[in-house]
Amino acid sequence: MARIDLDLAHAYGPNPRSDEDYALLPLRFTFDDGGAYALLGPSGCGKTTLLNCISGLLRPSQGTVSFDGRDVTGHSPQERNIAQVFQFPVIYDTMTVGQNLAFPLRNRGVPAAQVRERVGQVAEMLDLSAVLDRQASGLSADAKQKISLGRGLVRHDVAAILFDEPLTVIDPHLKWQLRRKLKEIHREFHLTLIYVTHDQTEALTFADQVVVMSRGKAVQVGTADALFERPAHTFVGHFIGSPGMNFLSARWRDGWIELAGRRYAPPADRAIAQRLQAAGTFKIGVRPEYLRLARPDDEQAVPAVIERAQDIGTYWIAAARLQHNDAGAGADGLDNSPLLRARLGDEAAALRPGETAWLSVFHRHTCYYVDEELVR
Ligand SMILES: Nc1ncnc2c1ncn2[C@@H]1O[C@H](COP(=O)(O)OP(=O)(O)OP(=O)(O)O)[C@@H](O)[C@H]1O
Ligand SMILES: [Mg+2]
Repeated sequence: MARIDLDLAHAYGPNPRSDEDYALLPLRFTFDDGGAYALLGPSGCGKTTLLNCISGLLRPSQGTVSFDGRDVTGHSPQERNIAQVFQFPVIYDTMTVGQNLAFPLRNRGVPAAQVRERVGQVAEMLDLSAVLDRQASGLSADAKQKISLGRGLVRHDVAAILFDEPLTVIDPHLKWQLRRKLKEIHREFHLTLIYVTHDQTEALTFADQVVVMSRGKAVQVGTADALFERPAHTFVGHFIGSPGMNFLSARWRDGWIELAGRRYAPPADRAIAQRLQAAGTFKIGVRPEYLRLARPDDEQAVPAVIERAQDIGTYWIAAARLQHNDAGAGADGLDNSPLLRARLGDEAAALRPGETAWLSVFHRHTCYYVDEELVR
């Protein structure tokens, strides 16, 4: 397994001029040896491009890729010694399941006894033992993709295993099982795993470190916890979480935070307060999980008109529109009546559309954003 250092950018077309011409903007990043990573982001943000630069399927138009300090930029996937699993099964239909699993080992001249042992282990991990002698062509799409996964996992001596949305064709229950399996395999063998997905649940349950990407850029790298608690960019706040983070436009005025025509005490952290003062206008970010019902006489509470409250099963999601203090809502040029979402307990059952609820917005979980970037 290898440590992978990237210092690169990629444009598919010649002579890139503006940021839009780049599939990957200049990026410097290290994947630690033995780490489990996810590349997470919406369609078209550059996940596959990045993965292919790592594997060697694609040569970045600028910069370098190094494995353990060795420049491999010009090397093929074979030379880099990478295993890659794609979205759709890549297997030999004319071979049996066992032969398919053995192929990457036989190809490398691994002795037959070792091949048998390793194929047996991988088949066991993926519940393929019972079909080892079956022809691959007759199997379901699920089973075929499991073979693809097995072929990716069968070698111990690869520099890294890369997965590009490998569970897309797998049914939801099996998906969950396989994700857990991959996690187990990672724990057992300390492989460097890089896993591409646009599904946050998949990324957050699989990876120790999630690289959140947006439009050719890695906007934040962090643990599930860090992405949830301290999104570095409003994009991450929106993208991670279900529903995503609430953002309220506010401004600094005479030592107070002005929000929807009301005054609130600024954050106790002096450095943050100074940044907000310097910026003048900013956004307040609060996760639905941290919006709580407050009492109307709570000076730090924000009034909002309930639009609906929905029972999701184990919790409620209430949607409420921030209520402006005066008739001139929005007159100050800020988007002052966003729809806020709060994740609440059974207390939400009593909320009626049209009534005003008071929400606590300011507490230690509250984040502040200037120009979409987290103020630290
Ligand atoms: N071979 C190519 N030639 C030209 N442009 C490409 C090529 N492959 C990808 N792109 C462009 O590069 C950008 C990044 O694409 P990429 O496939 O890396 O995104 P992705 O995050 O993997 O998306 P998805 O989730 O849909 O797989 C997109 O704008 C895409 O249109
Ligand atoms: Mg892709």
